[in-house]
Amino acid sequence: MVTIVIGTQWGDEGKGKVIDYLAENHQIVARYQGGANAGHTVVVNGKRYIFHLIPSGILHPQAECILGNGVVIDPISLLSEIDLLKKENISVTGRLWISANSHLTLTSHKMLDQVEDQYRGKGKLGTTGRGIGTTYTDKTSRIGIRLGDFLDADTFREKLTINLQMKNYLFKEYYGKEIFQPEKIIEEYTPLRERLRSMVIDTAKYLNDAIAKGKNVLCEGAQGTFLDIDFGTYPYVTASNSTAGGACTGLGIGPTKIDRVIGVAKAYTTRVGEGPFPTELDGDLGESLRDLGSEYGATTGRPRRCGWFDSVLLRYAAMVNGLDALFITKLDVLDTLPVIKVAVAYQVGQERSLDFPNGYRALAEAQPIYEELPGWQSDISKVRKWSEFPDATRKYLDRIEELSGAPITMVSFGPGREQTIEK
Ligand code: IMP
Repeated sequence: MVTIVIGTQWGDEGKGKVIDYLAENHQIVARYQGGANAGHTVVVNGKRYIFHLIPSGILHPQAECILGNGVVIDPISLLSEIDLLKKENISVTGRLWISANSHLTLTSHKMLDQVEDQYRGKGKLGTTGRGIGTTYTDKTSRIGIRLGDFLDADTFREKLTINLQMKNYLFKEYYGKEIFQPEKIIEEYTPLRERLRSMVIDTAKYLNDAIAKGKNVLCEGAQGTFLDIDFGTYPYVTASNSTAGGACTGLGIGPTKIDRVIGVAKAYTTRVGEGPFPTELDGDLGESLRDLGSEYGATTGRPRRCGWFDSVLLRYAAMVNGLDALFITKLDVLDTLPVIKVAVAYQVGQERSLDFPNGYRALAEAQPIYEELPGWQSDISKVRKWSEFPDATRKYLDRIEELSGAPITMVSFGPGREQTIEK
């Protein structure tokens, strides 16, 4: 069975925990897009792991992990994650495979990302500064460097020289910054080559062979539907297809091989970085949600913007991803609230709309129309069966399921593996 897990909001939905939960029954966990901008948090036996590149499934000894061709690889970040895992006695040897076609993120990409975003001034995107957009830009400009190219010293030198010739013009003439010397980058990255070599393979072939043998594959999306380069709140998006379709192109699996798509949604909404967010809560309530949910970016530590659950977003996410199921996370964060609101529609100018607005301006103007539901005001952390949830909790879940158009099959209400219930 091949399953895709995607975020249905603006990322940080708790996909790390969901992947960790599902990985138990999978032989392969594969990332298909994004890079070290992701921050997938998993808590096992009270210990907190944050993964930026390595799929969260690595904590399951039976699982092999793949970084597909659609992922952009920062070797420094990847190897430091591997080293951290080693300290915990978790080995990636023979369990982590990286596509030779994935593109390399170098120091110059990270620097350019940061400079570009500063230069945007008021229009800044608030990127993670991890060189994601600049690596994908090089990929589509056909001046990128693939991991396979990096393995051959001469090819790397040749491609890097062409790449830096173009980038240095920008650095020097446009941004007035220091240029990058190819030799310095070669010196910085050469020691990493042999550490990566044995992991670099044709992951599309590997995956398709595994699927043919009947192995269970979990495709791990990073970021979320509304950060997708095509369907997100453009231009305030990331640079890849984080929606379900990205799994096919980012891994080299045909759509006919996909069996199900699971969407992950927080019981409320958060966003980090700039861009429209109709149900955002300013003031005390927003801050108290941030405190209750520890809503700080796992990659950058930035405070996340918080707001109510938005079913307009969810319906759109259910449509563009073809969701079969919904996994609701962080339900416990709402435990103390007397009243919980859910956006059921938007007011855009004179119109009331059930649909996600087309275009940035309409979305920026959209005013959410809310429905209020009673809170349960009790601690649900010890619940172990669906029937043990308070009535108000079940009503809340039923209502968001009805509005979102995808069946809720799983709910999580705390960081531990045991704080998860299947419906
Ligand atoms: P970039 O992916 O670093 O280019 O950032 C573009 C936008 O996506 C910014 O608003 C980031 O905050 C956001 N973003 C990127 N990765 C994540 C993530 O894993 N979780 C939440 N937001 C993210």
